[in-house]
Amino acid sequence: MVQKVRTAYPRQLLMCRPSYFDVTYSINPWMRPEKPTDNELAVRQWEQLRKLYLSLGHKVEVIEPIPGLPDMVFAANGATVVDGKVMGARFRHMERTAEGPAYLNWFIDNGYEDVLWPEFINEGEGDYLPVGRHILAGSGFRTDSRSHAEAQEFFGLPVVGLTLVNPNHYHLDTALSVLTDTEIMYYPDAFTPGSQAVLRELFPDAILASDHDAAAFGLNAFSDGLNVLLPEAASGLIKELRERGFNPIGVDIAELLKAGGSVKCCTLELRA
Ligand code: ARG
Repeated sequence: MVQKVRTAYPRQLLMCRPSYFDVTYSINPWMRPEKPTDNELAVRQWEQLRKLYLSLGHKVEVIEPIPGLPDMVFAANGATVVDGKVMGARFRHMERTAEGPAYLNWFIDNGYEDVLWPEFINEGEGDYLPVGRHILAGSGFRTDSRSHAEAQEFFGLPVVGLTLVNPNHYHLDTALSVLTDTEIMYYPDAFTPGSQAVLRELFPDAILASDHDAAAFGLNAFSDGLNVLLPEAASGLIKELRERGFNPIGVDIAELLKAGGSVKCCTLELRA
């Protein structure tokens, strides 16, 4: 295969240190409150991810973690930001509802003016993934599909709804990853047949994840156009990405997987 020449585009990211990380409730199949967590290890692994972003030339902002909100480390869920416009998150589960206003206030305090407190439940970039000038939007477990029309109206960009069916992949960013403005990788089995057909139609050359790589959370990846940061256990995807001219970087952030999150979940992109 002829390799494309890839370019990394510097990004502005928002992260939240897992100072209060723990698994005290279960709202997805990965979360087992009876299993012990190691908070210091979580912080160390998260710190490595943050430093990796900085070393690649990205800018990382941090939001202050709040005691009693153990999932706040998953910044991707805090909002969706496109063209400097911020659509706030409204969480499905009571355990996480306080995160919505906490993240929205960060944006207001940091000078963002076009900010929407949404009418419908949506879990930010967990379920909204911009690709080029379109937005892919998940529903089925968390985000209410009525939110998709709300997002389309607010951002003025076409929103393509996709339905998730596998509880292990309860957010779109656990089943699909955006690599460039035109390229994605995804796990077909996480979607309804109709949504799989839509993805084949829009992205005929997409990288497809194996059961093993999907289960290793390999699709919970961050790409800057060249460097793709993903869980190191996703060996098949790492090989495939390399063949397509990307620079895959395996990351060990396994402690956070106990809550059902990984690289991308910890990362909210602030698109100017
Ligand atoms: N425990 C969190 C939840 O179930 C994990 C969120 C992971 N975030 C993500 N963007 N997929 O809500």
